[in-house]
Amino acid sequence: MTSPHAPRYSRITGTGSCLPPHKLSNADMVALLAARGIETSDDWIVERTGIRNRHFVADGVNASDLALVACRDALEAAGVKADAVDLIVVATSTPDMVFPSTASILQNKLGIHGCAAFDVQAVCSGFVYALTVADAMIKTGSARCALVVGSEVFSRILNFDDRTTCVLFGDGAGAVVLQESAVPGILATDLHADGRHVGILCVPGTVSGGQVIGSPLLTMDGPAVFRLAVGVLEGAARAVLDKAGRSEADIDWLVPHQANIRIMQSTARKLKLPLEKLVATVDAHGNTSAASVPLALDVAVKQGRIQAGDTVLLEGVGGGFTWGAVLLDY
Ligand code: ACO
Repeated sequence: MTSPHAPRYSRITGTGSCLPPHKLSNADMVALLAARGIETSDDWIVERTGIRNRHFVADGVNASDLALVACRDALEAAGVKADAVDLIVVATSTPDMVFPSTASILQNKLGIHGCAAFDVQAVCSGFVYALTVADAMIKTGSARCALVVGSEVFSRILNFDDRTTCVLFGDGAGAVVLQESAVPGILATDLHADGRHVGILCVPGTVSGGQVIGSPLLTMDGPAVFRLAVGVLEGAARAVLDKAGRSEADIDWLVPHQANIRIMQSTARKLKLPLEKLVATVDAHGNTSAASVPLALDVAVKQGRIQAGDTVLLEGVGGGFTWGAVLLDY
């Protein structure tokens, strides 16, 4: 807790995650698509993306259910009781309902009531956006203890007749407890969007008059997203380093959005980071959109790789087109 006159910062004090138990290997995806007369292979998926496994939720399990488990895990790691939370921000593109927010549903499941709760929609950049918003609210005194969550059930919006997208995604959730602190914590943030590229990655359907109008399934121009992603991530990284007065050499860990190992390695190379500093979980989780960064962060913390005091660069990129970075001392 800070005195009223001391500079106010925010700091991650606990991480948590949740993967649904049903794991699908690439061999399972080959069989699933073969039953629909579509060909794919473990070799193609591994070589183009680095993905080997993903997890899918069972019927009836929603983003708020995965988020609840991840939040309880993060609260326990932080040693914080749920009733101390005064802000919940959930990043998701696969909410439980059109409204109310998944954050409100999650708040009720956590058994707490009254604190601010809302969703952030920035697709795969969602967690970086949510963390930036929560950091700003803590720095301005609007909140002291936030749950910042990325939770997705992308299996619900996949087109299993489209091999170019359905093999890429998985379900999961990651969460952090972000608390007021006299020392940083979050050092710098940098967010961007370019709406000219809405069409390259979208679920174009909407609900109107009791009907779904347009497709409710994910569509992506993969090569276009790939080109944009490799072009913007270095800039966001350099922006947060500049704002924080740090250099590439200060980065202990790069935790980027887990979409494609080739994009992640390209970013690491541009920042002159050895690949040992890259946290990669895409092989085990696939692309879990807004959940991918907090999931990877939690895995690296639980493995004891990310330690207190390490400087960590988080990066998101995805539909919108959106991208951004957060630099922090863990
Ligand atoms: N199995 C076998 N072959 C396939 C498959 C598949 N699952 N999917 C595509 N192919 C074929 C294509 O049909 C094509 O065949 P052709 O040459 O005969 O036409 C060939 O493989 C190459 O296809 P490309 O799309 O050019 O393959 P590419 O190397 O670009 O990889 C990929 C595709 C993995 C989607 C890549 O473009 C990518 O990772 N893009 C970025 C995705 C991303 O970063 N998303 C982040 C945000 S996600 C979000 O916000 C929700």
